[in-house]
Amino acid sequence: MFSDKDISRFANLETPFYYYDLSLLQNTLKTCADAAKLYNFHVHYAMKANFNPVVLQKIKATGFGADCVSGGEVSKALESGFDKNQIVFAGVGKSDKEINLALDEDIFCFNVESVQELEVINELAAKKGKKAKVAIRINPNVDAHTHHNITTGLDENKFGVNSWDLPQCAETLKASANLEFIGIHFHIGSQITNLDVYKNLCVRVNEFGLWFEERGFTVKVLNVGGGLGIDYHNPDQQVPDFGNYFKIFSDFLEIRAGQEVHFELGRALVGQSASLISRVLYVKNGKKKNFVVLDAGMTELMRPALYQAYHKIENLSRGKQVALKYDIVGPICESTDCFGKEVEQPETFRGDLYAIRSAGAYGEVMASKYNLRDEIRSVYSED
Ligand code: LLP
Repeated sequence: MFSDKDISRFANLETPFYYYDLSLLQNTLKTCADAAKLYNFHVHYAMKANFNPVVLQKIKATGFGADCVSGGEVSKALESGFDKNQIVFAGVGKSDKEINLALDEDIFCFNVESVQELEVINELAAKKGKKAKVAIRINPNVDAHTHHNITTGLDENKFGVNSWDLPQCAETLKASANLEFIGIHFHIGSQITNLDVYKNLCVRVNEFGLWFEERGFTVKVLNVGGGLGIDYHNPDQQVPDFGNYFKIFSDFLEIRAGQEVHFELGRALVGQSASLISRVLYVKNGKKKNFVVLDAGMTELMRPALYQAYHKIENLSRGKQVALKYDIVGPICESTDCFGKEVEQPETFRGDLYAIRSAGAYGEVMASKYNLRDEIRSVYSED
């Protein structure tokens, strides 16, 4: 929700830009941290959702760790002051260079996604005379009931070690002097809104934990990944239900004494805290359709073009009285450069300000230079 003061501030700024509501971000982080503390759960922030430096500073200050998926993210986490003992490194395709970097930095753990990767980490760690801490990312074949492009925990997905490869995995772990097994890792998908899915995940985590214990391994860490969704239809109902989310894991996981439960949340922490603010360049009234052409496009927020994702769109200049239906499009030379079709809006004019809401996660980080677009800046509520 924007105040009149926000809107008059926006009117004087060059568009488009990402607008961060830092007090909402702070509130979201605190709510999550407080809820996790109740159960002594550890939260790692999934940096891929947003690595804006101002956002990262707030997250680091909350005491969360960092979940990284590239050498670049590991470096960024360290530069931003995250504790190396709270940095985990996942990803199905870690290069030797990235593994070496993480070994040099002595990060907390590699979340390993194949038997071959275990062998490579062992070899590279041996060359450095180090012991790498590893957790096995297991593909649990649990349906996250989310968009098929962002589901990750099914047999047909590329992520994690499949259950039928676990015996080989256990053998490799036992034979690898430069690996220290610390636990098991899962991530079944993103934008999960049906929390029951997590109950199914817990059942699988318990089974796989037992499987490793029965083979003589100590499972210190249960990392259940992230994926908690946000309500894109109600961006003003801003803070996700962290309490219920964590309670499910407390209720359904069989947590042994000395075991730690780790989470990797991205979207739920940052998603609602930003909007993409844009100005109307042109209004085209066609025979069949009316178009609002914005100065922001899929290059600044790719989710609608890529996943047909819904983002709430608001005209900030004309009040709330809807009058017409418009396709809200960007300037990019692609037909998929459309933020929403047949969206009800007040009658719109050149120069009106528009907000595309819930752009805090997978917005700025997925921006592209396509059409040689300028990189846009970020504006903060506490500027
Ligand atoms: N952990 C792992 C191993 C992941 O792959 C991801 C996200 C997360 C944690 C954090 O998930 P979150 O809590 O944010 O759902 N670009 C897509 C989302 C891709 C998610 C990739 N992995 C989108 O815009 O919807």
